[in-house]
Amino acid sequence: MILVTGGAGFIGANFVLDWIGAVGEPVVNLDKLTYAGNLANLASLEGDARHAFVRGDISDRPLLAGLLAQHRPRAIVHFAAESHVDRSIHGPADFIETNVVGTFRLLEAARAHWSALGEPDKSAFRFLHVSTDEVYGSLGPDDPAFSETTAYAPNSPYSASKAGSDHLVRAYHHTYGLPTLVTNCSNNYGPFQFPEKLIPLMIVNALAGEPLPVYGDGQNVRDWLYVGDHCAAIRRVLERGRPGEVYNVGGAAEMKNIDLVRNLCATLDGLRPRASGTYAERITFVKDRPGHDRRYAIDAGKIRRELGWAPAETFETGLRRTVRWYLDHADWIAGVQSGEYRKWIERNYGAR
Ligand code: NAD
Ligand code: DAU
Repeated sequence: MILVTGGAGFIGANFVLDWIGAVGEPVVNLDKLTYAGNLANLASLEGDARHAFVRGDISDRPLLAGLLAQHRPRAIVHFAAESHVDRSIHGPADFIETNVVGTFRLLEAARAHWSALGEPDKSAFRFLHVSTDEVYGSLGPDDPAFSETTAYAPNSPYSASKAGSDHLVRAYHHTYGLPTLVTNCSNNYGPFQFPEKLIPLMIVNALAGEPLPVYGDGQNVRDWLYVGDHCAAIRRVLERGRPGEVYNVGGAAEMKNIDLVRNLCATLDGLRPRASGTYAERITFVKDRPGHDRRYAIDAGKIRRELGWAPAETFETGLRRTVRWYLDHADWIAGVQSGEYRKWIERNYGAR
C-alpha cells in the first residue's frame, strides 16, 4: 500500500480517487482536515476497504511512527500543505509549520521507516514530494520557461515555505540516500478545488451574480494544467522516476489572467446563459496581491522525454469539464461556502 498525505484536499483527493480507480492498490490517507480538507471529496470511496482515512497532522511524530509501523507503505506521496498564496500573505505561520516543519517531521519518520527495511523493499521504497513551480520565482515576458535547473527564487511566504521543503527533500536524498522524487507543477484546476483559487472562485462568484475580482491589471500569466493530468504525472514519476530526481510538470497552456476569466465567462455563457447579458460584465479590477509574481511557465520536456508523460486535456477541454463539474455540484459548493470560507472572503476582498 501507499501512504498519501493531504488526500482530502483538491489535488490529493483527485489523486486518491484516480489511484484507486487506475491502480487499485490500497491507500492510507493522512489529512488534518484544515479548512481546505473535505471528506465530501472522498464520498465515493465510502465503504471501500482500499481507502483508510486517518485524521491527523504530518507534524505528529508518534502518529507518523505508528502509521508507518502498522501499514508498512512501499511509498509516501506527500501533498499535505498550506497551499494558498493570499493566505500566506495574511498569515505565514501555518505555512512554516506545515510546509517546512511538517515536511521535516515526515522526512524523519520516512527515514526511520526506510532505514529499517530489508531488501528488496528498501530499494523499492519511494518518498514523492509534490511541489510547485512557484519556487522558481517570476519570469519576464521573454524569459525561457522554468526547467529543473532554474535557480530557486521564491517570492511569497507560500513559495518560500515550499522551497524550504524541497531543499529538505533534496538533502535527505543527498545525505541519507532516502529514495526521494520531487515534482514541481504549474497551476492546477478541476473538480474539488476550493473556491479561494482563481478558477473556482470565478465560477462560484459568477453563478452567484457577484463581482469577478481580477488582481492588478490582469496581465499576470499562469501555465494551467488539468488536475487529472497532474495525477497521471505523479503516478508516472512514482512508477518510473529516478530517485533523487526532480520533474517539472506543466500543461503548456500559458494564459493571462484576464484572458482566462473572459474565456471562463464565455464558457459559462454557453453552458448556463444568464437571462440577459454576459457574465463578463461582472469583471472588476481590484487592488493587486502584494509581491504578485508576473509570469510562470513550465518546461515539461524532461518528464515527457524520460518518462513519456504528456497531458491528455487541452485547456479548452479541461476548462469545459471543470465548469460542468461545478454546475453539477451545487451541493458541494454550498458545503464549502459555509463557516471559515465566508470569513476568509471578508478578510481578503473586504479592503480591496
Ligand atoms: P489544498 O489546500 O486543496 O489541500 C491541502 C490538504 O492538506 C488539505 O486536505 C489539508 O487538510 C491538508 N493539510 C494541511 N495541513 C496539514 C497538516 N499539517 N497535516 C496533514 N494534512 C494537512 O492543496 P492542493 O491545491 O490540493 O495542493 C496539494 C499540494 O500540491 C500542495 O503541496 C501544493 O503545494 C502542491 N501544488 C498545488 C498546485 C495547485 O495549483 N493547487 C500546483 C502545484 C503544486
Ligand atoms: O503555480 C502553482 C501554484 O498555483 C500552486 O503552488 C498554488 O498552491 C496554487 O494556489 C496556485 O497559486 P496562484 O497564486 O497562481 O493561484 P491563485 O488561484 O491564487 O491565483 C491565480 C492567478 O489569479 C494569480 O495571478 C492571482 C490571480 N487572482 C487570484 C484570485 C484568487 C485574481 O486575479 N483574482 C482572484 O480573486
